[in-house]
Formats: sequence, structure tokens, C-alpha cells
Amino acid sequence: MIHKANNILITGAAGYIGSHIVEKLVKTKSKIIAIDNLIRGNKKLINKKTKFIKTDINNIKKIKQIILRNKIDTIIHLAGYASVKESQNFKKRYYLNNIIGTLNLLKACKNSNVKNFIYSSSCSIYGNVKGKVSELRKPNPQSYYAITKYKSENLIKKFSKHYNFKFIILRYFNVGGASNSGKIGEIGNKNGRLIKNLAIQFLKSKPKINIYGSNYKTKDGTCVRDYIHVLDLAEIHMKCIEYLNKNSKSNIFNCGYEKGYSVLEIVKIFKKMKKNVVINFMQKRAGDVGQVYSNTNKFKKVFKWKPKYNDIRKILNSSIKWEKKLNHL
Ligand SMILES: NC(=O)c1ccc[n+]([C@@H]2O[C@H](COP(=O)([O-])OP(=O)(O)OC[C@H]3O[C@@H](n4cnc5c(N)ncnc54)[C@H](O)[C@@H]3O)[C@@H](O)[C@H]2O)c1
Repeated sequence: MIHKANNILITGAAGYIGSHIVEKLVKTKSKIIAIDNLIRGNKKLINKKTKFIKTDINNIKKIKQIILRNKIDTIIHLAGYASVKESQNFKKRYYLNNIIGTLNLLKACKNSNVKNFIYSSSCSIYGNVKGKVSELRKPNPQSYYAITKYKSENLIKKFSKHYNFKFIILRYFNVGGASNSGKIGEIGNKNGRLIKNLAIQFLKSKPKINIYGSNYKTKDGTCVRDYIHVLDLAEIHMKCIEYLNKNSKSNIFNCGYEKGYSVLEIVKIFKKMKKNVVINFMQKRAGDVGQVYSNTNKFKKVFKWKPKYNDIRKILNSSIKWEKKLNHL
């Protein structure tokens, strides 16, 4: 619940996570301006109650105009490319969109009312970590995507001093699930995500799933990740706006459930639902780390908050339900 009426600019609003945050924001008193260049987003995900502007975060002039005209005080920045695999092959593309895009968005905040900046960072910046990882851990990015997220974090910290705004960096772990409204969810599988892929395979008569790497130093040799439901993640953003409105200091928070599931464990859960799934073990993918899962003590202490969807089966079922809807089944 946000008590104050903010003027919020959200970038990447037609994407998977952005659309879920917007769905929550439109229920507040705040004025919402949603932007996206639609390069990866989908028009279907744009909430009808928001003002949507199709534009690119690299268009400093246009963004500056939007910020000034709407007296924007809060920016939630999600726009960017989000695939580890793709980033390894297209470094320049990721550099220009994720790092320079963030830089240009920050430059557009000069001499404006922007007081709060919330950024979607990623657990990938930590690299491979044994045991729960806290925000104090020294980042050790292993993929180019992770480098772009870490460099963007540093730009935000630097500009917050120049332009006098506060920031919250949210390091998302792996996001899954979909809104209960049935209106929004993840579309396409350009980012090659496990939960989305399982949901797609659920609808196939001959489902198959590829597992990349079987000799990582993990419990069963496959990659271990921490999965968070997109609805809990969207709610975290509401908490962060409230936190920044109360004039609290800038901060960094992990967003996960503190539980590491191996890919094979999740695929085994899926196999119980879809018995004829064929499992293929493939080569490791460049940039993937063996394991990373969260310590969220800081978030729990500051917000006294409990997640509502803290269950991998709930996440999987929610994604499958959305996939059926997407395919009109
Ligand atoms: N999904 C996850 O598991 C996950 C985990 C960690 C971090 N993140 C971060 O969260 C953010 C959102 O991820 P998502 O899963 O919703 O991805 P997504 O691809 O669904 O959404 C990103 C949106 O940004 C838009 N966009 C990209 N470049 C743009 C630009 N230059 N100008 C304007 N719009 C642009 C795309 O069109 C898309 O709608 C990303 O920054 C990603 O790095 C996601």
C-alpha cells in the first residue's frame, strides 16, 4: 500500500515483470507513465489504465520531456535485455542497451524532481556462490549480462550523488509465475527461462526439456537457482516506493526465497505432472554459474514482510495456468 500519490515513470512496462508492477501501481493513487520501446515487450501486456508512451530509454530528449512534463518523482527502471546466453554472443548490443541505456536514463534526470530510483538488478552479479548469498558479498559477474547489471548499479550509485536522489537496487533471483488476473504473464521465451519453458512443454503432446550441464559442483550436478513468484516481486516494489517516500536511505536488497532448487529437482516435480516428458542433458551454456540462492535477512528485517507465493509448485502451476490462457485452451 503506497500512502503518498507519486508521479512514477516505469521503463520496460510492456515486459514480463514490468507489466506485473504496473498492475499493482494502477491500484494506488499515483500517476503512472509507462514506457517501453516494444523491442521485447508486448502490447497485450500494457495496462489500459496507464498512460503508455512507446519510446526508447536512449532517447534522452524525449525521456527528459516526459520526466519534466509529468513532474516525475520516482523511476522504476526495468528496460533492458535479459538473457545470459544472448549476452555472451551479442556483447555490444547488451552494452548499448543495458549500460548506455541506463546512463542515458540517468542523464535525463538532471535538474528534475526525481527523488527515488528503483533498479532491477540481478543475482547473476554474484557469480557462483556456495550457501546463501547476502548483499554484502563482493560481486563476481560471470556473464556479460551480469557485467551490464553490475555496471548499471554503479552508474546509479554515482548519479544519485550528483543529482541528489535515493536509490534502491533490487537483485532479483529467478522470476516465475503470473498474475492471478489471467490478463498478464510471460510471453515468448526469448530469455530461455526454465519455468516458462516447462509451462510451454506442459501443453505439448510430446514434451521435452533440455538441461544444460550435469557436472556442476552442486547436489546433483545441475544448476541451482532460487525462484521468486512475480506477484511477490511486484509487491516488493510497492514496499520500496513506500520506503523511499519515508525518506529512508538508499539501499540494496536481494529478492528471493532463500531456497536453492536444482534444475533436475524442478524437472522431476514437472515429470510428476507430465509423465511423458523427455529429458535431454546438454553441454553447459557459457555464462551460467553453478549455484546461487539468496539470503534475504536484510529485506525481512527492514520490511517485516512475508512472501505469499513461496512455493515452487505454486510458481510452476501459475505459469502453466497463464500458458493455457495464452493459448486459449
Ligand atoms: N525475469 C527474471 O528472472 C529477471 C531476473 C533478474 C533481473 N531481471 C531484470 O528485470 C528486468 C525486466 O525483466 P523481464 O523478465 O520483465 O524482461 P522482458 O524482456 O520481459 O522486459 C524488458 C522490457 O524492456 C523493454 N526494453 C528493452 N530495451 C529497451 C529500451 N532501450 N527502451 C525501452 N524499452 C526497452 C522490452 O521491450 C521489454 O518490454 C530486466 O532489466 C532484467 O534484467 C529479470
